[in-house]
Amino acid sequence: MYGTRLFDQPEHAAVRERLGAFLARPGPLAVEIGFDHGMCILDRARRFPETRQLGVELREQRVIAAAENAPDNCLLLRMDARTLFTVLLPAASVQWLYLLFPTPPSSPKRVLLSAGFAAAVERALVPGGVLWFATDVPELDAAARTLFPWPEAPPPPLGVELSRRERVCRRDGLPVYRLCVARP
Ligand SMILES: C[S@@+](CC[C@H](N)C(=O)[O-])C[C@H]1O[C@@H](n2cnc3c(N)ncnc32)[C@H](O)[C@@H]1O
Repeated sequence: MYGTRLFDQPEHAAVRERLGAFLARPGPLAVEIGFDHGMCILDRARRFPETRQLGVELREQRVIAAAENAPDNCLLLRMDARTLFTVLLPAASVQWLYLLFPTPPSSPKRVLLSAGFAAAVERALVPGGVLWFATDVPELDAAARTLFPWPEAPPPPLGVELSRRERVCRRDGLPVYRLCVARP
């Protein structure tokens, strides 16, 4: 299932080890899913050096390019967020989750916002940990509100004000739906 067994294989063990070493370090952990060019996560990593910023993205070239600019407190991996949350992150380890403009699924296989994923996110967040979510797709907004019916929370630490997709939305006059909730 979306590569969940992949990181058991020897050729991927190095990634698992890097992740394990990063997770063993002190400091609050932020995760960004689908960081694209890394503008937001790299900016937060520089602004908040006391935090650990972990980013996952499917597009390999984006990961390679962004990782060249990552400071020591930022780990960027080519990985499916569903794998990260369902099999690799320890319970109650994530303080802030940034999920900005997830890709609308092109097939059922690619659905990110599912009940299983929501359960894995709930497990990985610390109690009181914050999900910061944005989309311009009404159906994804509705899915997120259904899957994460949690109390509203103040925004997590933010750096660059707008992600790349949000800039496009602003330019094109598209509505942006935002959700900021804390795991009970
Ligand atoms: C619409 S783009 C938004 C990029 C950026 N977050 C923004 O707001 O501009 C969605 C990004 O999520 C990545 N992505 C899609 N599904 C993913 C998954 N399951 N795990 C990790 N990244 C994913 C895509 O490769 C793409 O770069």
